[in-house]
Amino acid sequence: MAAMTIKERLLENAALVERTLETLTAREDADFSAVLEAERYSLLAPRAKRIRPTLVLEFCRLLGGSDEAALPFAAAVEMVHTYSLIHDDLPCMDDDDYRRGRPTCHKAHGEATALLAGDGLLTRAFGVAAANKAVSASLVCEAVKALSEAAGSFGMIGGQVMDLAGEKVRLSEETLLKLHRNKTGALISVSALLGCLAAGYGMDSDEAAVAKRYAAGIGLAFQIVDDVLDATSDPETTGKTTGSDAERGKTTFLTYYTPEEALAFAERVTAEAKEAVASLPGAQILLDLADYLTRRKY
Ligand code: IPE
Ligand code: IPE
Ligand code: MG
Ligand code: MG
Ligand code: MG
Repeated sequence: MAAMTIKERLLENAALVERTLETLTAREDADFSAVLEAERYSLLAPRAKRIRPTLVLEFCRLLGGSDEAALPFAAAVEMVHTYSLIHDDLPCMDDDDYRRGRPTCHKAHGEATALLAGDGLLTRAFGVAAANKAVSASLVCEAVKALSEAAGSFGMIGGQVMDLAGEKVRLSEETLLKLHRNKTGALISVSALLGCLAAGYGMDSDEAAVAKRYAAGIGLAFQIVDDVLDATSDPETTGKTTGSDAERGKTTFLTYYTPEEALAFAERVTAEAKEAVASLPGAQILLDLADYLTRRKY
């Protein structure tokens, strides 16, 4: 049988993660149904790419760990990511109407419910990670701490604050790199690290150091491509509002580079990411993933 393409592998991983997310959010309560429906509406939207959970799964597999150990961490990081998208789209943030091929959460469910759905997903995510029975208690603690740091004020939230500041003033290129490292890089980085932890390798291991180097490269490339697609693509292709960055006057990679130059920059940091893992046996999937993400059209 021919080897699976990276696209097929991503679809297979997405299906696996979606089954886990379905199960984790199946509990119902008629009195809470407004928020539970809004959570599932965004979390289980069919156009989600599930890149972060894929990183958890693939790093865990690469290091000989099981999917059973990876899936609770994969689900937790996707819940945190989905919350961040719901809040990112709110009128007080990017004020966008379309996400994952659907009207944004606040457009479909109202602002207050969308805010609460984000809160609900973020909070639940830590319970899901903590309940990982296939990993030792000490590694679960490391995972929860790492996820908290990546999502919090010294990670993604810090990046979001810089992103909003960059609507009012033009940030320096160095500051923009810090913004991207935090806004997007932090959660991508912790995804790779959660995969290491699921496979039994702690945060101080050589394996975690490799994961960090790889994720730093693909994380930066990922946000550069996101900036380019916002300016050059359309909602049918991306599944989300486009043109939003220019409309809000945000400082992005296109403040400093043409789309072609920005993509060349993304290719360079992707090459660095690939170098970090190239010598590991079984790393082909990570090499293919890095290229796929930089050349993606959505
Ligand atoms: C969008 O992330 C937000 C960014 C950090 C650029 P994705 O492009 O991974 O969005 P989904 O999860 O596929 O919807
Ligand atoms: C959002 O960055 C990153 C988050 C922390 C959610 P963007 O605002 O560029 O993401 P999109 O383009 O709306 O998906
Ligand atoms: Mg934003
Ligand atoms: Mg946005
Ligand atoms: Mg964007």
